[in-house]
Amino acid sequence: MTFDEMYSDMSDKLKNLVPEIEIKYKAELAYKIHQLKLERNALILGHNYMEPALYYSIPDFVGDSLELARKSAKTDKDIIIFCGVKFMAETAKILNPDKKVLLPSLEAECSLASSITVEDVRALKKKYPGVPVVTYINTYAEIKAESDICCTSGNAAHIIESLKADEIIFIPDEYLARNVARETNKKIIFPANGDNNIDDSHMIKYDLIGWKGRCEVHEKFTVEDIKNVRDQYPHAAILSHPECSPEVVEASDFSGSTSAMIKYVGETDAQNYLLLTECSMGDNIVAANPHKKMISLCSVRCQHMNRITLEDTYNSLVYDQYEIQIPEMILQKAYKAVNNMMEMV
Ligand code: 13P
Ligand code: SF4
Repeated sequence: MTFDEMYSDMSDKLKNLVPEIEIKYKAELAYKIHQLKLERNALILGHNYMEPALYYSIPDFVGDSLELARKSAKTDKDIIIFCGVKFMAETAKILNPDKKVLLPSLEAECSLASSITVEDVRALKKKYPGVPVVTYINTYAEIKAESDICCTSGNAAHIIESLKADEIIFIPDEYLARNVARETNKKIIFPANGDNNIDDSHMIKYDLIGWKGRCEVHEKFTVEDIKNVRDQYPHAAILSHPECSPEVVEASDFSGSTSAMIKYVGETDAQNYLLLTECSMGDNIVAANPHKKMISLCSVRCQHMNRITLEDTYNSLVYDQYEIQIPEMILQKAYKAVNNMMEMV
């Protein structure tokens, strides 16, 4: 690809979203990254939440957590640059222990991943011995290492149903777990977090044992937001990520992973769309579908995803930063949980 090809491609996609002067600057940077990527035999993966100028320039692949984990598992490149958050880069490292995996910003964390500790998981396993542990991919490697299998927003219900276990520990996202419980017709308790006392849980009939971690972005959307938007735009299609509360998911027209939402917008013909998820994704959809009208609630942003910029990605390639390191013992155990998921779907 030449600079002119990259610039004209970015201009085509971004002209209605980004001023021309900014596209020029970003295209110059993106082209430098592209050349370095080739020189260093690197693969760049970009999550659906990346800002449009990054999303539409440097990644070899874009997608949701599951799709990007799959792409990382198939690469023969020497280096993987993960334009996403730390748990995603860690998952790529778990699947590629011998490759260098770089995350462009150390600040790209995740409130769900920080919501649970190894001690918390061990306490749950002690309380419910022998009960399989399903862990959302939005967790750090040491939590995956304590788990039997991982899941993503795109396959959680399928994995919970496929296990055919009487009881399952499903951590750490309270809302994802409640949404999956509703979808699969299972009863969930949260014994370690208060609403069901840990000592009384044997009195209650339940199928899933959850943890009250939350996504700091998706927990902010409310049924009131949906009502307000429906009052103003009666024909809008409302889409929510399953990290939103069950009430919000129920009041929406569609709920699914970030890629499932992109697909839904592409395949339907509503007058307007409201995406209850990180705001950049709406911009990325409009860039590819200029005739679709998005309504955005952009006061709610993922501060972690937004840490990843073209500038940091360039520095990442120049200075080899920041390399994902996972102790060997944790890596091997986490690999089993991630690989069990990859084999199941
Ligand atoms: P997806 O797997 O649906 O892309 O979600 C990742 C995420 O962090 C959503 O907040
Ligand atoms: Fe984590 Fe929420 Fe940000 Fe996704 S949107 S990375 S779950 S904090």
